[in-house]
Parts: sequence; structure tokens; C-alpha cells
Amino acid sequence: MIVKHSRGQYPIQFRSFELPQGDIVILTDENLAREYPHLATKNCIVVEAGESSKLVETYIWVCEQMVLYRASRKTKLVALGGGVIGDLGGFVAATYMRGIPFIQVPTTLLAQVDSSVGGKVGLDLAAGKNLIGAFNPPSEVIIDTEFLKTLPERERQCGLAEVLKYGFILDPTILKDVHVVPIETIVRRCIELKKQVVEADEFETLGIRASLNFGHTVGHAIEQFTGYKKYTHGEAISVGMAVEAKIAAQMGLSQPEVTDTVISNLEEHGLPIHAPELEKVEELIELMKRDKKAENGKIAMSLVCSFGDCRLVTDVPTEVIRRALVSG
Ligand SMILES: NC(=O)c1ccc[n+]([C@@H]2O[C@H](COP(=O)([O-])OP(=O)(O)OC[C@H]3O[C@@H](n4cnc5c(N)ncnc54)[C@H](O)[C@@H]3O)[C@@H](O)[C@H]2O)c1
Ligand SMILES: [Zn+2]
Repeated sequence: MIVKHSRGQYPIQFRSFELPQGDIVILTDENLAREYPHLATKNCIVVEAGESSKLVETYIWVCEQMVLYRASRKTKLVALGGGVIGDLGGFVAATYMRGIPFIQVPTTLLAQVDSSVGGKVGLDLAAGKNLIGAFNPPSEVIIDTEFLKTLPERERQCGLAEVLKYGFILDPTILKDVHVVPIETIVRRCIELKKQVVEADEFETLGIRASLNFGHTVGHAIEQFTGYKKYTHGEAISVGMAVEAKIAAQMGLSQPEVTDTVISNLEEHGLPIHAPELEKVEELIELMKRDKKAENGKIAMSLVCSFGDCRLVTDVPTEVIRRALVSG
């Protein structure tokens, strides 16, 4: 599969991953280095596992390690890990010596179906996630679903929430298939969908790419409110999709059956549809006003009107949000 972008294109290869030959540096995290020691050998930079590695301090340390390994402009950076490693590695590659090539080797379900494709890379600030970043497409993405065998169950669930999201916003056949077809097939289908969306709206300016944000306005607010500690991203957006489905129905944009189907699919997969934090209505609304889709204090959400039809609504009335949170 090939993804086209304004500066060229890159292939997505579905194959077993082996360390590439030649001038490479590998960036990975400590969990992967422990689980796959044969991949974390020469020229390997290992960072702590988790979101804390998307801080500027880690970024500087990684760049310094690159210098110690005598990485040049021709060196390829192999980002071997989940979304944290992909975002950090992609940002290092965007900026080290004004840019070097990098290969995405996503090892979580979330990174395989979402973050490794589309070219968004970045870092967090104390003030918020992904506040520093770039559009920096990889030179190649290698998808090896064997990596998913060692993924902890909670991380798998996290990715599953994004898989179901594709089912709700773009291709409802996924909702049935996810029960019966191998995970490789599901990953490939999700990547095809993400490819279509990012090719149609590379820089997120047309509202098309924003459709991938279903459940994320409420989900991000829950994550921020709980300091990114209590819930995984997938759990937070699962609750977010349940609440935003109710909002769409209350606004008359969708039929109540859509909400019921969203909720029943999430529940079937053991994903949460409720969080006690939803009672913190005013605090969550304040956070939603600071969401990057919001303009002039108006809350924006990508809402599913019917399965496969998701629209960016730029002025969701706070009264409707209040009601959905309270009933949530
Ligand atoms: N760039 C984008 O378009 C985009 C899209 C969505 C999310 N993201 C970013 O992705 C990040 C979340 O990604 P994530 O959920 O993959 O988190 P992650 O990279 O922290 O990985 C989750 C956990 O799984 C472990 N792990 C990874 N692969 C493993 C494997 N094969 N076996 C065992 N353990 C493994 C990691 O060590 C970590 O502890 C966030 O920072 C988010 O902002 C970026
Ligand atoms: Zn997400």
C-alpha cells in the first residue's frame, strides 16, 4: 500500500520485521527492549516506556545520543514501538540535522491502526499533549502483527477502541468483522481507511481528517481532567464516543439506534461507556473549549450522524453537552 503526500509518498509494508542493514539508529522503549532483545542491539537508543518520553528533555537526550552514535543526514532512524516512540522518533527525525529519514515500526494496535500513518509527529509540554509537532511523513511503515502477541491486554483494548471508531465513522462492516476475521485483516482495513482520510486532508484543514476525532473532544477532556493517569487513551475515547453519540442524537443529527449500537459495541468489547468524572460537568466543558478543534470558545465535535457518516460540528450547544454528561 502506498500513501501519497505533498512531498512524495511512502509504502506501508505488511511483513515480518527484521533489522534493516546499513546506517541506522533504533529508537525504542524499555519494555520493547526487554521483550525483543535481539532488535535492541547495535546503535539502539532506549527511553522509558510511556507518555513521559514525549517530553522535550527526552527529545534533547535522544538527539545527543544520535550525535554519540555519529548519526549523519543519511542515517535512518527506526522508530520501533507504540505511538510514543513513533511521535518522538518522528519529531527527532524531522529536526535532527534539519531532517533525516525514518521508518515507523509500530508495535501496538493503536500505533498500527492509527498513529504510524499520516505523518503527524510531536512532543508534549507540561501545558498539554502534542503542543509541539510537525507533519513529517515516514519513509516507510512496516506492519508486523506478530508484535501484538506480547501486547498487554489493556493496551490491546486501547487500540480496539480506535478500531471500533473506524467502524462507526467510516466502515460499519468492521463492527461485525472484528469478531470473526484475523486481527491482520482488521489492521489492514483500518490502515486503508486512515490512508484515504489523510490523503484527502493531509494538513487537517478541510474538516475531513477531523472525522477521526469522533469521541475525542470528550475523551481528551477526561484524559486531561485525570492527568493522563487513570485511563488509557482508548478507555477515555470509548467513554467519549458513548457521550458524543448521545449528543448527536439529542441534536437531532442521528437516530437513537445509532447511539444504542455505539454503546452496545463498546460494551461487547469490555470498553467503558461511563466514567465518574462525567459528573464534573463544568470542568469538562472548560477543557472542551480549549480543544484544538474549538474556535472562539465554541465547542466542536466530530459526530456520527449514521454509520459511515461522521461530520465536524463546530458549534455544539453547551446545554446539550451538559445534558449528555449528566445522563452519561
Ligand atoms: N501521530 C499520530 O497521528 C497519533 C495518533 C494517535 C495517537 N498518537 C500518540 O500515540 C501515543 C499513544 O500510543 P500507544 O498507545 O501505542 O502508547 P505507547 O507507545 O506508550 O505504548 C503503550 C505501552 O505498550 C508497550 N508496548 C508497546 N508495544 C509493545 C509490544 N509489542 N509488546 C509489549 N509491550 C508493548 C509500551 O512499552 C507502553 O508501555 C500518544 O502519545 C498519542 O498522542 C499519535
Ligand atoms: Zn485517538
